[in-house]
Amino acid sequence: MSVLKIWGGERLSGRIAVQGAKNSVLPVLAATVLEGGESVIRNCPDLTDVHAAIDILRHLGCEAEFEDGTVRVDSRKITRCDIPDELMRRMRSSVIFLGPILARCGEATLSMPGGCELGPRPIDLHLKAMRLLGADVKENGGDLICKAAKLTGARIDLPIPSVGATENSMLAAAGAEGVTFITNAAREPEIRDLGEYLKKLGVNVTGAGTSTVTVEGGTARAYAEHTVIPDRIAAATYISAVTAAGGDIALVNADTGDMRAVIGAFRRMGARITENGDELRCVMEKRPVPPGTIITGPYPGFPTDAQPVLMAAAAVAEGATAFVETVFQNRYRHVPELIRLGADIRVDGRVAIVEGTKKLHGAKVEATDLRGGAALIVAALAAEGETEISRLCHIDRGYGKIADSLMMLGGRAERIDRKDK
Ligand code: EPZ
Repeated sequence: MSVLKIWGGERLSGRIAVQGAKNSVLPVLAATVLEGGESVIRNCPDLTDVHAAIDILRHLGCEAEFEDGTVRVDSRKITRCDIPDELMRRMRSSVIFLGPILARCGEATLSMPGGCELGPRPIDLHLKAMRLLGADVKENGGDLICKAAKLTGARIDLPIPSVGATENSMLAAAGAEGVTFITNAAREPEIRDLGEYLKKLGVNVTGAGTSTVTVEGGTARAYAEHTVIPDRIAAATYISAVTAAGGDIALVNADTGDMRAVIGAFRRMGARITENGDELRCVMEKRPVPPGTIITGPYPGFPTDAQPVLMAAAAVAEGATAFVETVFQNRYRHVPELIRLGADIRVDGRVAIVEGTKKLHGAKVEATDLRGGAALIVAALAAEGETEISRLCHIDRGYGKIADSLMMLGGRAERIDRKDK
């Protein structure tokens, strides 16, 4: 079992390039299945989720290689149209492959994605969209069996702006005859990025990144290159670290246009954030003050994925912060671990009240989920003394080489890979 040791309480200083967006590269890799051809996807982060997606592509019959931040996919040969249990369990967002496999093969069998640490993760909206496009969808003993001799463009009205359901609808619609309208679509930047890649495949997409997306299946191009947008949540994590621990850091390749709500919150905490092109400089000279109540919501609201890391900075602020988590049912699993580090937090359903304390102290803690684990890193950098974080598998899903990244920012961190006892 690997652990990450962090010796906190010191100001940060350094410079880091923001990795490519995990939540963009995953749907883009799924989209390479749509049409037989070759794709070169650049700025891919080296994450276990990315390697899980590559293993799914290989399982389907594609050639897929990850090398130095670039993934090359040759999807001319597709020999299977199923994703087995062991691959689905490695990454619950593998459901994003449903639309493209169905569009390419006319059928798709996926073992039902498990719930996850954030509470139940239904996919009813994904399945409803597939049915509207003409698929027959059955669930049989934990397997999802979808068949569609032909997909036909339809109107898909989403009751909630689900990111995954929007993406799966776009991906299936790319293989449908006629035009599909998706209303109340999620507007996250990663959806805009997926739309850009689909256009390079020859799919006629308009409005990706807005609440109404139209998709008309098109003749695919045999070759497409795409560079994935920066990861706004990884960038938020580093901003939160310097806000909590103090210091002066620079983030390169940040897309500040996608980070307005996040930058606003940290500025209210006292961080001096200056933007110069794709470089973002963040200086924190004093103890943070509360940002005001944080209510998470669909983009362009405050992103739920940044809630845990912001909470870690709020834990050392001079005053109280209220959080309202409106997106996921159970996204406070990091709270007991932050309390072990000395945080003063009370949770009541979707509300969490954080009373800032002057100092946190090092402790042994364990990551409960991806962003909860990132929150522990932020808190450990601000805490006095040594913190040991276990269950790094959660963190490795979304942050490449996290110990190296922290050291680039002047943090004292060491990853220790222990043979399982
Ligand atoms: C994506 O998850 C992201 N994951 C999540 O990031 C992110 O937190 C989430 O969007 C919200 O922004 C990826 O892109 C791989 P949703 P997704 O569908 O698509 C409910 C991270 O840490 N819902 O927008 O699963 C659902 O239960 C991860 O990087 C249904 O009810 O999120 C949730 O309450 C965590 N039925 C809400 O919608 C459905 O069919 C939003 O979920 C689908 C979703």
